[in-house]
Amino acid sequence: MRYFVGVVFLILDVLAVINPTSAASCTISKYSENDIQDAVKDCTEIVLNGISVPAGTALNLNLNTGTKLTFQGTITWEFYEWNGPLLNITGEQIEITGTSGHVLNPQGDLWWDGLGEHGGKIKPVFFILHGMKNSVIHDITVKNTPYHAIWIEDSDGISASNIVVDNKDGDTKGGHNTDGFNVWRSNAVKLSGITVYNQDDCIAIKSGTNVQVTDTYCYGGHGLSIGSVGGRDYNIVENVLVSDVEIENSDNGVRIKTVYEATGSVTNVIYENIVLKDIKKFGIVIEGDYNIETGGTTGVATGGVPITKFILKNVTGTVKKSGVNIYILVKNAAEWDWSGINVTGGEKTKKCEGIPEGSGISC
Ligand SMILES: *[C@@H]1O[C@H](CO)[C@@H](O)[C@H](O)[C@H]1NC(C)=O
Ligand SMILES: *[C@@H]1O[C@H](CO)[C@@H](O)[C@H](O)[C@H]1NC(C)=O
Ligand SMILES: *[C@@H]1O[C@H](CO)[C@@H](O)[C@H](O)[C@H]1NC(C)=O
Repeated sequence: MRYFVGVVFLILDVLAVINPTSAASCTISKYSENDIQDAVKDCTEIVLNGISVPAGTALNLNLNTGTKLTFQGTITWEFYEWNGPLLNITGEQIEITGTSGHVLNPQGDLWWDGLGEHGGKIKPVFFILHGMKNSVIHDITVKNTPYHAIWIEDSDGISASNIVVDNKDGDTKGGHNTDGFNVWRSNAVKLSGITVYNQDDCIAIKSGTNVQVTDTYCYGGHGLSIGSVGGRDYNIVENVLVSDVEIENSDNGVRIKTVYEATGSVTNVIYENIVLKDIKKFGIVIEGDYNIETGGTTGVATGGVPITKFILKNVTGTVKKSGVNIYILVKNAAEWDWSGINVTGGEKTKKCEGIPEGSGISC
């Protein structure tokens, strides 16, 4: 008898482990912080379906290794003035995707006031991929972000493909500083099949190593930038390949900006097969005089963040009449190799200062 009772308790114990009384649901269709955190803890396939995230709340998903996260339907965030982020994902070997017809819509138009980060409403960053390792994000659509759309930070091994950031509405409704992607303090980041409609940098590589951008389309923003580099906690950009990119109706096309009186380095950068259309300010702009405080330029390059080993190949297209085809103002640059550059339509090269000898650039 004693033995029998002992066995029964043992069996009950085992059952309690295998079959917890409240199994987490791995599909969340109504916002509940508890349900979401239970799913994050217990599931390796999570579906977030049509939820509305309450005002001032971050959707923080610190996922188990190997989790697949799928967005379905329309996910919205309610209005609140704070810095965000609204969505913050961490994990290793994660797959993030969306089903056909889904959209992540933080309703940025509720914050837009034409001022971006320079005043007016306090605007949250939308989506941070933080400290991720060996993960993929693909087939995601983002609409109307209050401020910057997607940050990839402190990550190692991220492939992002087929991602649309659609801030078109911001053109008429006061969208400002709506960067598509920012990459910083990360290694081995691959962006491909990216489409961005916005009012600031399409993609900005602020720091990091081994970053690739391919098959990308940028419309309406400030172009495809490296920088600004310098004046932050990590100021190195190394091994960047940007290829097969079309940049249309944007302030700039190809842009590298390094910070005035700062230190750091930009090394081994290739931009190739770039098509520009109707660029408004600068087709190609490489400058070492960026003032990180004012967001303007000083007109004097300091050489503390030298640009070394810079290959620019097959960059063609048009700048508007009021714009400038090529602008270069750098110091301490070395080992540049430019070929197949044909950018026309704007004012001919406006500044051409600090170009290393034998780089193939004619001013
Ligand atoms: C994002 O989530 C990670 C992990 O949960 C956390 O360490 C980090 O502080 C969060 N970032 C922000 C800005 O909230
Ligand atoms: C230049 O780039 C364009 C756009 O990617 C491409 O179609 C073309 O084949 C490239 N030309 C050469 C000579 O590589
Ligand atoms: C440069 O592009 C213009 C049109 O954008 C074209 O007319 C011209 O022939 C091209 N020049 C070279 C050298 O390819």
